[in-house]
Parts: sequence; structure tokens; C-alpha cells
Amino acid sequence: MKIAFFSTKNYDIASFEAVNNGRHELEFFEEQLNSRNAILAEGFDAVCVFVNDKINSTAIAALEKLNIKAIAFRCAGYNNLNLEVARKSGMKVVRVPAYSPQAVAEHAVALILTLNRKIHKAYNRVRENNFSIENLTGINLYGKTIGVIGTGLIGKAFCEIMLGFGCRVLAHDIFEQEALKQKGINYLSLDDVLVQSDILSLHCPLLPETHHLINKESLTKMKQGAMLINTSRGGLLNTQDVIESLKARHLGYLGIDVYEQEAGIFFRDLSESIIEDDTISRLLTFPNVIITGHQGFFTKEALEQIAVTTLNSFTAIESGQALDERVVIA
Ligand code: NAI
Repeated sequence: MKIAFFSTKNYDIASFEAVNNGRHELEFFEEQLNSRNAILAEGFDAVCVFVNDKINSTAIAALEKLNIKAIAFRCAGYNNLNLEVARKSGMKVVRVPAYSPQAVAEHAVALILTLNRKIHKAYNRVRENNFSIENLTGINLYGKTIGVIGTGLIGKAFCEIMLGFGCRVLAHDIFEQEALKQKGINYLSLDDVLVQSDILSLHCPLLPETHHLINKESLTKMKQGAMLINTSRGGLLNTQDVIESLKARHLGYLGIDVYEQEAGIFFRDLSESIIEDDTISRLLTFPNVIITGHQGFFTKEALEQIAVTTLNSFTAIESGQALDERVVIA
């Protein structure tokens, strides 16, 4: 198949070319796929997209016009797709459901440990020969209550790590996993998890039902001084409400790998630019906030698995073989 890759970086090119073995013809565009750039897919059989491409109804119509047969998400989440319109189109839409749940779960833990033990501050201090430990006090994670929203692949991996730390782990999900219950995880209502947790980590997808799941009301229910971690999707938080809670000294810590308005900011070097987004700029002023730029998935193992699964899906689509039902979106 002749495949146009959108929003690509050097690491995408390296990981896909390493596993392709001449099976498909790959062309990599830096541009985002959106209704305006869809024309770049002219002459291709399929497109491959990432988290911030905009596959709305206009982009889907443009791709259909170009006779594109398949859209592959080289990621798990697909909230940037108009699912209803995609289902009505004749195109196959696939994703990578599980490339390395541990990669994202471990990143969530990295955010917790960094915020709690103030490693970001310690690193800077020591580099300037400042070996004072004043104000670097953390808490023991052992014995603390961790709330997990969404216990799918990533949430489950996260629960297991936190059990290893000796934490009490509470969870909320619309589907409860028996295997996790047997390991000692208690499933509770969302409110009960919010109220009881010292640290809350979000691992559910962004859906209309979960949009702004964390808002003024839910933040008020959380313990004063609690830590909020979001490695899932930015839209799970009402960022303005989170800022207000931080300013009111209610929310104690925030660690995010995703941001609702991340498209146009994340995955770019803006070090010489003036950031127009006042919300992320405000977040960056808090000493108790850490932001990483959507790197939760970014491990060697995950990149390889993403490339293998995506190219295998293209091979199956090309040869008319049945696809694993977990990869099929539409
Ligand atoms: P998954 O589909 O295995 O698990 C999601 C879980 O959320 C399921 O158990 C589901 O029942 C639950 N859920 C759905 N609606 C819910 C609701 N209203 N309340 C509570 N739970 C609900 O997905 P997986 O692989 O664990 O990924 C989770 C999310 O992580 C993805 O949707 C994606 O947004 C994000 N992600 C972030 C990455 C990063 O680099 N930061 C990389 C990969 C995924």
C-alpha cells in the first residue's frame, strides 16, 4: 500500500522504516492531517495519523474523494476522529489498542515521584551547587490512598505499580475487573474515589461523558492538598477550574502529560517563540505543577509495537484478511 503519514517526526520515520521491510510504500509529511491538508494524500491508498490530527467530517469527505481506503491511528485514543461520519464512510479505520500500557503507567508514576519528592527543583538546585534541602519535603507513598479513574490496560498497569508501593488503591470504572479486585483494588463510585484519594490518576478515554470530568465541583470533593495526574487526554480536565483550585491552595499538585489545547503547542520546539496560550503559561508558573509534552507513550518498546501493529493492519486491509477486532475503530 502507498501510505501518507501525517504529523511525523524523525522518530516516527525511524521506527516505521525499521520494521517495514519493503512491504509498503511509506511517505512522511510533517503537516497535520486536517481538512486543508488532506489533499496531500492524493495518489495514496491510505493515511496514518496521530493524536492531534483533525479527522473531522470535512477531512473525511476530502479523503473519500481521494479514494483513500484506510485511516490508521498510530495511537490508542481517537477522540480527534468524527466517529459517526467515519463509520458511514467506506474507509477502514484502525488504531493501536495496546502498544505498551506500562510506558504510560510508568510515566504517570514518574510524574507522581517528581512532584512529591520535588526532583525537578532538586536537580536545578544541585546544578548550581545549592545542596540545601529546605522545602523539598515530600510524603511517603507507602500507605497512601491512590484513586484510579479507568482501569483498562493503562489503568490496570498503574494500579499494579501502586500496589507494589504499598498503597491502598481505589478505582472507578464503568466495567470492573475481577482480576484487579482479587489483587485488593476496591471499586467505588467516582465521588467516593474523589473524596478518599491522596493522589488521583486519570486513565479513562476522552468521551462526551468524561469531558471535563475534573471540574470545579469534582475538585471541591477532592482532599485539600491532593495530587492530580492526567496522562490520558487533556479534555478530561476543565483547566481553568484546575488553575482556580491551585490558586485557592486546594489542589496540592498537578502533573499532566496532556493538555486540552495541546495541538499547536506539543511536539514542537517553541523555545524561541512567544506562547499565545495564557492558560498553559499560567500553569507553568506554579511550583507544584509539572507538564510533560505527551511523552507518556514514548519508549523504544512502544514505538516498535506501534509500527508493527500499524503496518500489520495495512497488510491485512490490503490483502482482505480479517483484522483483530481490537484494532478496528470503523
Ligand atoms: P482502555 O480502553 O484499555 O481503558 C480505558 C478504561 O476506561 C476502560 O476500562 C473503560 O471501561 C474506562 N472508562 C470508559 N468510560 C469511563 C468512565 N466514564 N468512567 C470511568 N472509566 C471509564 O484504554 P487504555 O489503553 O488504558 O488508555 C487509556 C487512555 O490513555 C486512552 O484513551 C488515551 O486517551 C490515553 N493514552 C495516553 C497516552 C500518552 O502518551 N499520554 C498514550 C496512550 C493512551
